[in-house]
Amino acid sequence: MMRYAHIVGWGCYLPERTVTNAELSQLVDTSDEWIYQRTGIRSRHIAATNETTATLAFEAAARALKIADLHPSQVELIIVATSTPEYMFPSTACKVQDYLGAGRAGAFDLSAACSGFVYALQMATQSIATGSVRNAVVIGSETMSRVIDWQDRSTCVLFGDGAGAVVLKGSSIPGGVMATTLRSDGSGADLLSLPALYHNPVPISGAEFSSNGHHKNIIDMDGRQVYRFATNVIATSVMDVLKQAELTIDDIDLIIPHQANTRIIEAAAKKLKVPMEKFYLNVENNGNTSAASIPLALCDAVRDGRLRPDDNVVFVGFGGGLTWAASVVKWDVTPPPVSFGDQEWKRIRYMMARGRSRMRRWQRRVEAAIAHPSARRKDDID
Ligand code: ACO
Repeated sequence: MMRYAHIVGWGCYLPERTVTNAELSQLVDTSDEWIYQRTGIRSRHIAATNETTATLAFEAAARALKIADLHPSQVELIIVATSTPEYMFPSTACKVQDYLGAGRAGAFDLSAACSGFVYALQMATQSIATGSVRNAVVIGSETMSRVIDWQDRSTCVLFGDGAGAVVLKGSSIPGGVMATTLRSDGSGADLLSLPALYHNPVPISGAEFSSNGHHKNIIDMDGRQVYRFATNVIATSVMDVLKQAELTIDDIDLIIPHQANTRIIEAAAKKLKVPMEKFYLNVENNGNTSAASIPLALCDAVRDGRLRPDDNVVFVGFGGGLTWAASVVKWDVTPPPVSFGDQEWKRIRYMMARGRSRMRRWQRRVEAAIAHPSARRKDDID
């Protein structure tokens, strides 16, 4: 029985364009000094117009699969944690499934704001532990730049875009994701919110048909209350998950928190009575990328040599909902070396997956045209 879910691959993607605090100060009444002192952020990445939450997620997932040495056709489950999907349906995960050509994978999105990656990790871990799947790709991906009011200086300076992914694989060897705690408190829903659709023009008169009451689908936040909430729950959820794993804080080599704000992490470190060096931070260059922030920080921590085989690492997320969550993971990965030839071959594989997807779309159209020759399709009208 493959009860243990091990992380066997990881991958990240950041859009090329970076926006510095100085650039933002041209847009709103702010300064590099104010932003850096209050948040620890210097710059963030912003997606190009042709990039979406799904394309970012695909790039991260493809890199993670490469490290895991897993063919997309072997993938059994894809979960995308996101608050910025392009569509409510189809899910971002289905788009990623298509881009990867992961023909045998189930796919769904998970909404738990900045805690989403840890929630998704737990869903995938449990699916492996019960024998429902043998492996899973867990992705956090966001295009926060598209849900920000760029005139609101209290929020627009905080967020950025990006995606990170891990591949989980079942094994009978103990290790991997060892314990997880998930928590929520909906009474704090109004402290941090992002309304869904707000405008629905329909050919029926009456305000009730054209609006669901939301003004705009942009982030609304009570910064001070969120700050207080975050500093409290980081410490409590780390302690809770350690208790569940029967470990102490001294057994932990690295804590990778949701990268919201350096001051929040400093306050949490004080509460936990651990030095800041125990936390990994990259908020300075990425800003707050919501569900993507933990896997993005994981990639950087591995690159920087901050995680070694047999290290115990804690992921801790917190955010809208309110939600918070923590996982203890035994880092026991030895990735296979990837040669240049492999990389070329993998690039071709994804091009072929797109070709297959296009062919399936055409096949559906042809079948529909044969079955209902008189029906006019939207594509014909366009
Ligand atoms: N530049 C300059 N001044 C600003 C800016 C800005 N970008 N934003 C706000 N101010 C001003 C305010 O208008 C206010 O001015 P006033 O005193 O004249 O009224 C002053 O700065 C202080 O504002 P506060 O909101 O009290 O500032 P605070 O010290 O609380 O810092 C911050 C704001 C950074 C948002 C802080 O509350 C915080 O970190 N909160 C946590 C929220 C967070 O990280 N959210 C991320 C999303 S949630 C998540 O990921 C969990």
